[in-house]
Amino acid sequence: MVYEVYLRSFADSNGDGIGDIGGLRARLPYLRDLGVDALWITPWYPSPMADGGYDVRDYCDIDPCFGTLADADALIAEAHELGLRLIIDLVPNHTSEQHPWFTAALAAGPGAPERDRYFFRDGRAGGAEPPNDWISAFGGSAWSRCSGPDGEPEQWYLHTFAPQQPDLDWADPGVQADFDAILRFWLDRGVDGLRVDAAPAMAKTPGLPDAGHAPGALFESTSWVDNPHWDVEAVHDVLRRWRAIGDEYDGERIFVTEAVVNGPERLSRYVRPDEMHTTFNFDYLRSAWDAGSLRTVIDATLTALAPVGAPATWVLSSHDETRHVTRFGRADTAAATMGFDVAAGSADLALGLRRARAATLLTLALPGGAYLYQGEELGLPEVEDLPEDALQDPTWERSGHAARGRDGCRVPLPWSGQKPPFGFTAEGVRPWLPQPGDWAGLTVEVQQRDPDSALSLYRSALRLRRSLAALHEAPLTWLRSEPEVLAFARGRSFTCVANLGARPVALPVAGRVVLTSGPCPGHLPPDTAAWVVAGDPPDDLPHGVPAPVQRTAGSLGG
Ligand code: GLC
Ligand code: CA
Repeated sequence: MVYEVYLRSFADSNGDGIGDIGGLRARLPYLRDLGVDALWITPWYPSPMADGGYDVRDYCDIDPCFGTLADADALIAEAHELGLRLIIDLVPNHTSEQHPWFTAALAAGPGAPERDRYFFRDGRAGGAEPPNDWISAFGGSAWSRCSGPDGEPEQWYLHTFAPQQPDLDWADPGVQADFDAILRFWLDRGVDGLRVDAAPAMAKTPGLPDAGHAPGALFESTSWVDNPHWDVEAVHDVLRRWRAIGDEYDGERIFVTEAVVNGPERLSRYVRPDEMHTTFNFDYLRSAWDAGSLRTVIDATLTALAPVGAPATWVLSSHDETRHVTRFGRADTAAATMGFDVAAGSADLALGLRRARAATLLTLALPGGAYLYQGEELGLPEVEDLPEDALQDPTWERSGHAARGRDGCRVPLPWSGQKPPFGFTAEGVRPWLPQPGDWAGLTVEVQQRDPDSALSLYRSALRLRRSLAALHEAPLTWLRSEPEVLAFARGRSFTCVANLGARPVALPVAGRVVLTSGPCPGHLPPDTAAWVVAGDPPDDLPHGVPAPVQRTAGSLGG
């Protein structure tokens, strides 16, 4: 299980209100105790932070707000000592507008070779209109016009994301060679893997033809077919090149891509044997809380990945998505991504949490890997009422204040205490995003002491997941069940049952219940999941795991 660390919001060690490497180092034992295998750390490079660090000014250094290269080295060493592996975030599609490559390209003027690293083009209609109809993931055109030294408008440059994030042209040999060196820089320092940001953006159809987007179209890449600026075939040449570099290193160095593409078959192309090892499964994240939809996604994922031999990677939340406690508490439980869920409606958080807990047991019982986003182990909801003047996500401005963006899932973690900053930073310091005043019951300190807390559920589930051999290798087999119930076996000894319907059901299998997501008074209530082990519980149950969970003692429907 990989734990996503959104560094700015994890823990602050120096009292400036921004999470940093020192804060993460101090909390590594927390992550080990949680049962994490590896960490993925969001970008920590020097950055003007126009997009939370996904606008990189220097790929081979650390932003002073996060620490130093020496801190990064210490973190890598300490993580390894605790048995934790470390994955860093590589942002190859675009740089910051302040990257020396881009400032040099701007200064060199139209036609200069420095501009070949990016996409500079003349505008249409005598220069006044963007070169084509491509759109930005944050809203509006994907092109911005630059001006010459005299202030006169000049060429346009492409940015799939914010204007402060100009796209690199990956057909340029200089770009390719520089990134080879960047990869080696970090692999040499001992990182165990790289998460490749926005991978499908990294190739464009030559000639940059129009995509045929309707006016006002949103960036809905899951529905795009043959799009000239997303999921273009040449992306895979770059991924193969990197895989070869990773394979030169000892130990297992892994790549995971972020690729929001049109369905599991397109996604499976990113994890062919000579490409990336894993890729996030956003279809699973986007599925409604509905047995039929989830089963369809699970089957489609496993079917598409089988021929390429790659493991599935299940995700419920990330720093880009509405937290799933909130999503699952809404009338429409299917997620919109990147903060565009403008009219999402209000959420019943008690219902959302119950479903989120069931979803945890479901997710951690599926074959393959899982990514957990910091704070989900605390059952944190999305913070939907951040004051407008606190919002920092570029989506807010780019959408003309229509979509609030992703800040609500990025609020700093509550560690301890009765009021903000809840141990995230020094007492009296304002965190970079304000925390809700009513999070005292959600702190790590409180949840650690409560056997019924979300944190305790994650810990128990992760410990069991380690100790139950069936959860490592055995394939998934669906069991006969009512339509609103998901029931599957892993091997002969393990079963996961989740009731997504509105009525309680009897457990469709016999065995010993080793963990449930909520109270189970003799049956499986709505929005509840259970793990059942055949026969006696395994001898190797780690100490401290309730087996069976106390409140489910006795047989459960049998
Ligand atoms: C990815 C990141 C997101 C970022 C974008 C541009 O989607 O997860 O946070 O804004 O890429 O780099
Ligand atoms: Ca700090």
